[in-house]
Amino acid sequence: MEVVVAPDVDQFAANWLVEQWDEINALGLATGSTPENLYGWLIQRYYDGDIGFADKTTFNLDEYLSLAPNHPQSYRATIHRQLIQYVDLKPENFHVPPGLTNDVEAACEAYEDAIAAAGGIDMWILGIGHEGHIAFNEAPSEKETRTRLVDLSDSTLYHNARFFDNDLYRVPKQAITVGVATILEARKLLLLAKGDAKAQPVAEAVLGSQTEKLAASWLQSHEACVVALDHAAASELLTRAPAGESVIESADGIRHTITFAA
Ligand code: F6R
Repeated sequence: MEVVVAPDVDQFAANWLVEQWDEINALGLATGSTPENLYGWLIQRYYDGDIGFADKTTFNLDEYLSLAPNHPQSYRATIHRQLIQYVDLKPENFHVPPGLTNDVEAACEAYEDAIAAAGGIDMWILGIGHEGHIAFNEAPSEKETRTRLVDLSDSTLYHNARFFDNDLYRVPKQAITVGVATILEARKLLLLAKGDAKAQPVAEAVLGSQTEKLAASWLQSHEACVVALDHAAASELLTRAPAGESVIESADGIRHTITFAA
């Protein structure tokens, strides 16, 4: 992993993505609070004429089961509001797992097939959950998992209640999520984390053992994973890392670089 700590991590991540824009055909998208400003920067760069989406295909990581596509808190509606509505992505190239389906298994298979048909994901943009999930790969999530139906953890239900008027009972209890293997097969990965609430799972993911108990830890095995952090999200990691070291080692002996962006 390449850990980068940046004062304006959204802008850093946007610049980093724009630098390699031409190499990205299929772009994987997270929803939630974390990437919102990053998407704002990408929209800005789109309006500046630096990047386009006309030749891109996007795939979202996950979707709540039981929410209609036009439900304001569905991930389809959320990513449309945060990014898609502003850019020239062709509607047929916009993919989100279905929230409503009468054949979940077939829908999951079809999603994996669509990713394969697009030539695989070139870049997944990832966030991390408070207990270390990526996409909705809740513990336990094995490294070989693929797109499937999952039960959301109590922690996820609790934290995502903020999108449902803080009413825990309105948060969908299940979701369709791409799997850990679906994520690890991408050519590049960008894990973005901000705020001190993410400091603990980030430190575990980077420095702990790879384990099904914390899906983000599997990212250690990817050859091209950038972990972009603001100072708050990096705080626990920096506390545990030897002072001044630019290489840190995980419990599994995997070496990660750590740099500070201006
Ligand atoms: C959402 C997703 C999740 C979120 C994670 C963090 O598509 O994949 O893994 O990235 O739950 O959510 P926020 O950013 O709201 O803290």
